[in-house]
Amino acid sequence: MNWGDSWGSGAAFVFAREARRRDGARASRYGQDRLPSPGANQMTHDLSYLLRRIEDAPFRTHPFRHLWIDDFFEPQDFDAIVSSSQIDLGEARNDADLIDRLHDRGYEAIRFPGSSKDVQSYLNRRADRASQKNLNKDTTEDFGMTFRLRSGQPGSIVESILALLSSDGFWSTLAQKFDIDIDAVTREAGVQKYLDGYEISPHPDIRRKALTFMTNINPSPDSERLEFHTSYLTFTRAREYVKDRWEADPTIERCWVPWDWCEVEAQQRRNNSFVAFSPSHNTLHAVKASYDHLATQRTQIYGNLWRETDSLPYPTWQDFDDWAKRGSDPNEPIRPA
Ligand SMILES: [Fe+2]
Repeated sequence: MNWGDSWGSGAAFVFAREARRRDGARASRYGQDRLPSPGANQMTHDLSYLLRRIEDAPFRTHPFRHLWIDDFFEPQDFDAIVSSSQIDLGEARNDADLIDRLHDRGYEAIRFPGSSKDVQSYLNRRADRASQKNLNKDTTEDFGMTFRLRSGQPGSIVESILALLSSDGFWSTLAQKFDIDIDAVTREAGVQKYLDGYEISPHPDIRRKALTFMTNINPSPDSERLEFHTSYLTFTRAREYVKDRWEADPTIERCWVPWDWCEVEAQQRRNNSFVAFSPSHNTLHAVKASYDHLATQRTQIYGNLWRETDSLPYPTWQDFDDWAKRGSDPNEPIRPA
């Protein structure tokens, strides 16, 4: 299986490009600039205030440059989201029942970092850790599953969210805020649920990712106390050289690193909070989900902007470790072993 935070580079990326081409054809056919949203998604709820919130939000600088907006949705909208049947799935009896509920409400398993798309491998691991090896990277202890909602129930606020995510206005607002040329990137976003075991060790994201954002829409009133939230981190002093090398050498890709090379500076526990950043050498983030996913699930609105660039050599954390042990010669390029 091909792991890494390159999800979006394969089928999804091609799909996004194809979709844009089709949308272009559709736009010229209808002679309009603002496209109808893909599928049946309609914006029956007016969520345009979210664009103003993004425009008006000040940047925060610690532990790296990002937007953080609390109370992103209006309270009545947020209540409608977290009580909708596609977000609150009710209590599942067991893992199989949970996966049935996800499918019934319109979710599908996706290929995603920290996750397996294969239900059987996941269930095997849940039943007996010894019978199924960890399919995740070697900086992690476990893997999860990630599900993305295919479409919103007609007339629901979830449908309006998906319509917003496929609107030009949403993406151009985000791109403008981060000084990104909207014509040089492709978009992808959705409503996602992440099951127990989901883990991404600290990493800043690959260079092709121009922007990433996430909004917590957790249906449990206790969600802020649960252990499934995104951490934002810095390197320990002893490992700061990794960040410095990523900054100094744009010809190498940025890898996942061990948890103990980093320190947690903040966690996005707050429900209804929105975070966005443009990945760089210091944008370390990580998640380790360990919770009862039968009662509730980590749920987010999540999306990215992707640049079209060639893939780069990917030195691993071991390559960095070896380089440091050899004497940290700044003139010696770090390359995959
Ligand atoms: Fe990431």
